[in-house]
Amino acid sequence: MAKKILITGSSGLVGSEVATYFSEQGYQIHGVDNNQRAVFFGPNGDTRWNQQRLQAELASFNHHELDIRDRNGILQLVKQLKPDVIVHTAAQPSHDRATAIPFDDFETNAVGTLNMVEAARQFAPEAPFIHMSTNKVYGDAPNRIALKELETRWDYADDTYKEGIPETFTIDQSKHSLFGVSKVAADVMVQEYGRYFNMPTCCLRGGCLTGPNHSGVELHGFLSYLVKCNLEEKKYFVYGYKGKQVRDNIHSHDIVRFMEEFVNAPRIGEVYNLGGGKENTCSIWEAFTIAESFTGKKQVYEYVDKNREGDHICYYSDLRKMKGHYPNWEITISLEEIIRQIVEAWKKRKVITPAT
Ligand SMILES: NC(=O)c1ccc[n+]([C@@H]2O[C@H](COP(=O)([O-])OP(=O)(O)OC[C@H]3O[C@@H](n4cnc5c(N)ncnc54)[C@H](O)[C@@H]3O)[C@@H](O)[C@H]2O)c1
Repeated sequence: MAKKILITGSSGLVGSEVATYFSEQGYQIHGVDNNQRAVFFGPNGDTRWNQQRLQAELASFNHHELDIRDRNGILQLVKQLKPDVIVHTAAQPSHDRATAIPFDDFETNAVGTLNMVEAARQFAPEAPFIHMSTNKVYGDAPNRIALKELETRWDYADDTYKEGIPETFTIDQSKHSLFGVSKVAADVMVQEYGRYFNMPTCCLRGGCLTGPNHSGVELHGFLSYLVKCNLEEKKYFVYGYKGKQVRDNIHSHDIVRFMEEFVNAPRIGEVYNLGGGKENTCSIWEAFTIAESFTGKKQVYEYVDKNREGDHICYYSDLRKMKGHYPNWEITISLEEIIRQIVEAWKKRKVITPAT
């Protein structure tokens, strides 16, 4: 009998990639999503198109229209399915958006995760449980690292971080945003279920996770949104740090490949910083240049001399722990290729409207 994988947030960027990949590996796919992204971000965040795509393309895909805050619904579903693998990606994913919706944010990210991991403990305790966490659990503490200013970007001046931020970095006593706090609660809870109940859990503290299936909006999904603005010739606002803020970007395929490695050789209560690493970093200015090279259009932008609250100036993930535990895993998709694919995807989705 085919193995079953339960994926929350299956219509989103990461969830949909997990669905596609594990379907190709012969799994029966169970996706949970209620299009909450459209509630969080309005019609531009709608992920129904992606749900419909999965339903059309994957014979093994089963959609469950369920809210992860519905504790009883989640318990019943996990009891009925007894999945072999659980990948939890459903979330309120925006740092900035959380401020306006603190209850929705915490109930989705923290309590929704508790619902999932407790359901796993009761009905599928052997199933590898992969939780999508975020580098925002480190709050703005990475901003305390000494930096050097280069022509188009910031970089770490302190050699301790020349490979990036490790998992041992403090998550305490810094500004997180309310989103960062709800994700810390979830992250620590998933670790605890691993250690306390000896469950095969891991938290993947994502940098910028992206790819062609992202429904990028201004408040979440920076590369996807930046490319969309470029194609639409719509103004992209650059917030503070001279536009030299640095992010590491990872394609959702490389994320899923790591998940596969973990599923094949799970560990207990682990934490990994999952990003594109130093090689896949760019600043906003550098992202403009790469996007322009694929679209042939000049990026329209406005610089706002105020950074986003608690935003990282320079962040990239130290990938050495991931590679050490899972030597078969590596980054396979370069930053340029990621941006090229995002350009092609927006064109295909025909969402490009004339500039207003
Ligand atoms: N994309 C990034 O750059 C990034 C970076 C770091 C961490 N992460 C984390 O990775 C995970 C996945 O991110 P993503 O970019 O795929 O997000 P996404 O918004 O594209 O997908 C999340 C999906 O979850 C669904 N969802 C939200 N709340 C729900 C609820 N209460 N019940 C059921 N479904 C619900 C949404 O409708 C959406 O389809 C999140 O936990 C996010 O915090 C993302």
